Amino acid sequence: MHTGKLGFFYDEAKIICFRPCSSADKKYMFNLENTVRENIKRLTPYSSARKEFSGAAQIFLDANENSFGSPLPVNYNRYPDPLQWKIKEKIAVIHSIKPNEIFIGNGSDEAIDLLFRIFCEPQKDNILICPPTYGMYEVSANINDVGIKRANLTEDFRLDLSKIELATDENTKLLFICSPNNPTGNSFKNEEILKLTENFKGIVVVDEAYIHFSNKESLLSEIKNFPNLVVLQTFSKAWGLAGLRVGSAFANEEIITLFNKVKPPYNVSEIAQHAILEAFENTENVEKTIAEVISEREKLIGNLRELSFVKKIFPTDANFVLVKTSDANSIYEFLLGEKIVVRNRNNVELCEGCLRITIGTAEENESLLKSLRKL
Ligand SMILES: Cc1ncc(COP(=O)(O)O)c(C=O)c1O
Repeated sequence: MHTGKLGFFYDEAKIICFRPCSSADKKYMFNLENTVRENIKRLTPYSSARKEFSGAAQIFLDANENSFGSPLPVNYNRYPDPLQWKIKEKIAVIHSIKPNEIFIGNGSDEAIDLLFRIFCEPQKDNILICPPTYGMYEVSANINDVGIKRANLTEDFRLDLSKIELATDENTKLLFICSPNNPTGNSFKNEEILKLTENFKGIVVVDEAYIHFSNKESLLSEIKNFPNLVVLQTFSKAWGLAGLRVGSAFANEEIITLFNKVKPPYNVSEIAQHAILEAFENTENVEKTIAEVISEREKLIGNLRELSFVKKIFPTDANFVLVKTSDANSIYEFLLGEKIVVRNRNNVELCEGCLRITIGTAEENESLLKSLRKL
């Protein structure tokens, strides 16, 4: 059966398990009860008017909305579905999971922040990241006053498994693994990630923001085997909907219940929910865009290779490419002068001399190359 990048045509046989034995006979070190913050366990969540109501009503005078409408042609005077059930039902079918194994947030950045608030005690707990990686893990840790431990990737951007193991302590609550990784672009081996998950007594967060550009298998189907696995995905990349701010977290029901307990009541707007449902009606377009990005990516890499100041192009599974140059700062400044913005990663450890370039349209990439050839 054809397998679309978004997982729309998955058949049962495609769901693979990397583990040598069934999860039933494994004793996990992980214990959710011991991992959740005490104040979150005690928390009585806000109960929104729309959450309390179920059944058929015609007159809504429960939420202090403006019953007279709004100044727009489409009425947005009502609060949206707090739990976004219609979207979850669609996603659940696509991935053969249950709607209550899904959290939808204001971008996956919201899910990242909620993980801190659910699991990390400020000034006591810590998280483990594997730099160079996505910067928000560190920023969210700092916002939440949570410690940061680092197990840098190896020189060739692989996970350093022994460093990771050594870096954790009894207060390490979250281990973030971004695969495909931002900014390096490569993916890590699923077997390695699952091995770490099996041996870690906190939550392993696998950030798959770029998974749809990769031919690697998502770990989403593994949430049923690993009670401490949280997989993040987003509508901002392959779906082309960054402006809507919608991302998702996948995990077992108990963890998703905690997300729902802590999140703001109406965290995904009516416009965003409506647009996501509409996007599900046009997934062929998304598949086509992904294929275009991948084809442009290979073309751009081929052309960049011919430039004398390009020292190395790192293998990528994402919609960007990390390029090592002889002088990242001056190339970056030169491109700004040409009105082209790329991401300068020169100051990031292990990325010295590197620029991260997002794959643009054929025209955008051609303009970039034309400017670079002037150098
Ligand atoms: C690895 C990674 N995770 C998450 C995000 C944030 O995604 P969202 O737009 O869903 O908040 C990004 C954005 O660049 C990212 O690179």
